[in-house]
Amino acid sequence: MAAIGFFDSGIGGLTVLQEALQRLPNAQYLYYADSDHAPYGTKSKEEVLLHFIRAMDFIVDHGVAAIVVACNTATSVGIEAARARYTIPIIGMEPAVKPALAAAGNKRVLVFATKLTLQLEKFRNLVERVDADNRVDYLPLQELVQFAERFEFSDELILPYLHAQLAEIDLSQYGAVVLGCTHFPFFRPQFKAVLPPDVQIVDGNIGTINNLMTRLGKDTFSGPGGVRYFISGKETNFNIIRQKLRM
Ligand code: DGL
Repeated sequence: MAAIGFFDSGIGGLTVLQEALQRLPNAQYLYYADSDHAPYGTKSKEEVLLHFIRAMDFIVDHGVAAIVVACNTATSVGIEAARARYTIPIIGMEPAVKPALAAAGNKRVLVFATKLTLQLEKFRNLVERVDADNRVDYLPLQELVQFAERFEFSDELILPYLHAQLAEIDLSQYGAVVLGCTHFPFFRPQFKAVLPPDVQIVDGNIGTINNLMTRLGKDTFSGPGGVRYFISGKETNFNIIRQKLRM
């Protein structure tokens, strides 16, 4: 069986790949980080689309069986264009608003994502579809992407940033937050530290791999598994990235 492609603007999609490696350990993976052009969330829709399709062409040319767009921002911008362009299954990601509403009980939901994801129509449409009683708020936490891309994960840097961003928000009204960017699960410990203990932290990673497995079927993969890692088209040793992330 051909490899499964994973795409992200950078290292964020590794939080999704991690889930795939646990659930489908015998599959081969091709991970593409478009790090030369990260972050995507601060760019225009047009610019992101250009970089995204160039990267997707590269992945498709490697003969993959399917691609997981492990990036909420790229999905918001280009999932339709990608599905129109390629015949293989393309699995996208969007902020897990619906599961978060269910997890929040009667309380509100706060969605964290990149600047661009929150600006785009796709996100507004999603909220309109699932948020019948107006319980969803949102906040861009764009700098977390840049912190992660620089492998800066220390409490000393991240906690003051999160405290400052959340300073104006009454957190007691929230039952759940959504990590609507695949770079954000790296900061789960810091989110836990700054949020009240009863706030659920929801991401879309498990749901995405469930979708992938439904599309491909679990039994088609019979080892040995492995990951090839590309940074904007150049192959790089995955173990070096793994070590930096202590994955
Ligand atoms: N990891 C990405 C996401 O899920 C994009 C981050 C960025 O490049 O700004 O939205």
